[in-house]
Amino acid sequence: MSEQQAPEPRCAEGRVVVVTGAGRGLGRAHALAFARAGARVVVNDLGVALDGGAGPGETPAEQVAAEIRDAGGEAAVSTDDVASGEGAARLVRTALDRFGRLDTLVNNAGFLRDRMLVNLDEEDWDAVVRVHLKGHFLPLRHAAAHWRAESKAGRAVAARVVNTSSGAGLLGSVGQGNYAAAKAGIAALTLVAAAELGRYGVQVNAIAPAARTRMTERTFAADMAAPAGGGFDAMAPENVSPLVVYLGSDACEGITGRVFEAEGGRVTVMDGWRRAARTDKAARWEPGELDGAVRGLLARAPEPEPVYGAEPRTAGR
Ligand SMILES: NC(=O)c1ccc[n+]([C@@H]2O[C@H](COP(=O)([O-])OP(=O)(O)OC[C@H]3O[C@@H](n4cnc5c(N)ncnc54)[C@H](O)[C@@H]3O)[C@@H](O)[C@H]2O)c1
Repeated sequence: MSEQQAPEPRCAEGRVVVVTGAGRGLGRAHALAFARAGARVVVNDLGVALDGGAGPGETPAEQVAAEIRDAGGEAAVSTDDVASGEGAARLVRTALDRFGRLDTLVNNAGFLRDRMLVNLDEEDWDAVVRVHLKGHFLPLRHAAAHWRAESKAGRAVAARVVNTSSGAGLLGSVGQGNYAAAKAGIAALTLVAAAELGRYGVQVNAIAPAARTRMTERTFAADMAAPAGGGFDAMAPENVSPLVVYLGSDACEGITGRVFEAEGGRVTVMDGWRRAARTDKAARWEPGELDGAVRGLLARAPEPEPVYGAEPRTAGR
């Protein structure tokens, strides 16, 4: 029997998918993967530089939309700023005006301004928290309002949101206080959105990806390089997209409020904050009593995972 390649399953057939920051890196890979899986895609990208400043005059959203069309798919372009109220509203409207529906929102756009906390300017804090956290909230809010209206009008909704957190937000990362805080906020926002929107037929999950893009290619050049002799290129952004397509499709029915790490061929479900050990005096503590009590709790609690880039822990826990 000849070894025939199975046809790629079109698990997003008929869905309309918005991907933010889809002009480059991971977002581009997600947009192309959704199109291959049968979705009509709104390719959003503001085309900014790596630090969020004015881009080099590129139009990456147009380029990715053209790639999708050249391969026989359907795509619309949005060059809106996802972190502005007007931009986010227009982004959702683009899907509805162009394709008549919206099924999946992939929040992915963002940029970095890494500094140690003592050098982190207020402006760099605001810019990074704005693009990631507000840039997730606003498209989510506009999409959710649409889905609630659909649900209230009696139409069946099987909507999906895939947010983009980061290992930096889940475990912490030295030199990325602004980014880690925003990405931790995205993980919490994912839980809240899943809990609030389930009743309207909306499932909300998040990924924490790792891949070779312009965001990582300098810092992790050696770790993320493609293997010189061929073989599986684990850090290619295309390896993250299958999970995003799955979480953005009908197939993941019932899976919501979860955060998954995705890197190469690995998919990991993350287990967030949970109560690890408790003591209860049933009365108010004296501060002096708490040293013994707190150390007793820590002795019973699991060791936290190390913060990315941190020195190994020495004393205390
Ligand atoms: N690459 C990794 O290993 C990694 C790890 C963890 C998390 N992430 C996250 O994945 C996402 C994608 O990152 P990437 O590595 O592909 O970076 P990237 O720089 O290649 O792509 C990000 C895109 O977002 C666009 N963008 C920025 N601000 C925007 C705005 N306000 N509105 C619309 N578009 C905007 C940029 O123009 C850019 O094309 C980000 O949220 C990033 O934080 C990436």
